[in-house]
Amino acid sequence: MRRLYVFDTTLRDGEQSLGITLNVKEKLEIGHQLVKLGVDVIEAGFPASSPGDMESVRTIAQEMKGVIICGLTRAVVKDIDICAEALRNAEYPRIHTGIGVSPIHMAKKFKLTPDQIVEQAIAAVKYAKKYVSDVEFYAEDAFRSDPTFLVRVIEEVIHAGATVVNIPDTVGYANPWEYGELISFVINNVKHIDKAIVSVHCHNDLGMATANSLAGIKAGASQIEGTINGIGERAGNTSLEEVIMSIYTRHDGYGVESKINTREISATSRLVSRITGVTVPDHKAIVGSNAFMHASGIHQDGVLKDRETYEIIQPETIGIPQNTISLSARSGRHALKYCLEELGYQIEGAQLEDVYQRFLLLADQKKEVFDQDLYVLMGDSGGTADSILLRDMSIATNGVEMATATVTLEIEGEMMTDAACGNGPVNALFNTIDRITKNVATLEDYTLKSVTRSSEALGEATVKLRYEDGRLVLGKGFSTDIIEASAKAYINALEKRTFHK
Ligand code: KIV
Ligand code: ZN
Repeated sequence: MRRLYVFDTTLRDGEQSLGITLNVKEKLEIGHQLVKLGVDVIEAGFPASSPGDMESVRTIAQEMKGVIICGLTRAVVKDIDICAEALRNAEYPRIHTGIGVSPIHMAKKFKLTPDQIVEQAIAAVKYAKKYVSDVEFYAEDAFRSDPTFLVRVIEEVIHAGATVVNIPDTVGYANPWEYGELISFVINNVKHIDKAIVSVHCHNDLGMATANSLAGIKAGASQIEGTINGIGERAGNTSLEEVIMSIYTRHDGYGVESKINTREISATSRLVSRITGVTVPDHKAIVGSNAFMHASGIHQDGVLKDRETYEIIQPETIGIPQNTISLSARSGRHALKYCLEELGYQIEGAQLEDVYQRFLLLADQKKEVFDQDLYVLMGDSGGTADSILLRDMSIATNGVEMATATVTLEIEGEMMTDAACGNGPVNALFNTIDRITKNVATLEDYTLKSVTRSSEALGEATVKLRYEDGRLVLGKGFSTDIIEASAKAYINALEKRTFHK
């Protein structure tokens, strides 16, 4: 069995998705979960891109041990200096530097000749090597490059000291067999390829990212790069959970093994979804809420006779518990603790008491509290800055056109009340919050959905605010009252923006 290294870029390429901005605390929370999942490398950010990203990479490098912490750079001295500084306290630092190698990138983006590109690539790797021994080189847009030129670049950067060579399909253009052939071509033609790990990094523009990555692994690549839930720029990156479970389920076909603990997949997916605000589609492979549901009568009959008739993965394998305890307002702390442990949460003492009190409030409003409700309850107990608190809220509406909202917010200890009208309760609510907080961002999107399936379900509201500088910030709120969920989501988006500055 060949060892497959798992390189997670949720915090870098994943964060490049439209509408995602993660602060240091959020990145750390995801980082700790990625360690539990067992990834080998965490790409924590692109330090030269902003002071906030520099700070995030620095904190992650300082706090997270036992895992390679990687920072991205362009092939320029300034980026590499900043990245090296951010990684200074990492136990295992890696600098990920690179440059475009396709004709269009070289001519249009860099306005450099192929020879100049090779020179810059070599110089960047040599410069990064002065700081760290582990240097990964990415040949951006490698799939659309001339394979012979790609071989030349890779050979040169390995000679310059690159320990990992990344062959990205940056624009998601490849077909699986073509991407596999490119990886084979590199492995068979680059001199001293055995001195470096070959890495695959695919994007999902044509829905091929998982298939292409698997083709690359089959062709001999030993590192897979991707994100949790496949989040990322445009149509996203390779979904790590899909690749991991393909290899786990069809280990006969790949001849590789990773050190991933598959039982942490579900928890990691939920955490990334909660923190980034990017909802996982119900039918998403492996981590969608319907991925293990059997709806048709024929399938249900088959599964009841033998699970394997229609189930190729047992839900427990990815950490979905088979819970037999039903939680309601009559349940005690012990039952709650047991159910939370089944979902992967270890809490004791004051934290358990806090969650239990909020559980009782929720259970009073619902007949039964489901796993999904518990996830929300746990998510609600951390993650936000809590600098703006919703203290009171009332809405008056005649049910036809206009509504008036009165809201009291506690902002950094100070109580502030105001009222405003709107063309419906939610609009009036948001207008009032805008008045109190002097918000200038515009509402770009607002959605509401139920978290569980009963009529007293918990509502989940998502709000996207667009700021003057073009940045999109996303907020989430949960409550059995959908107006309250909307207010919480709006406040969450406002808090996040303040928190990021
Ligand atoms: O898709 C890509 O080419 C990248 C590189 C910067 C590694 O994300
Ligand atoms: Zn990428």
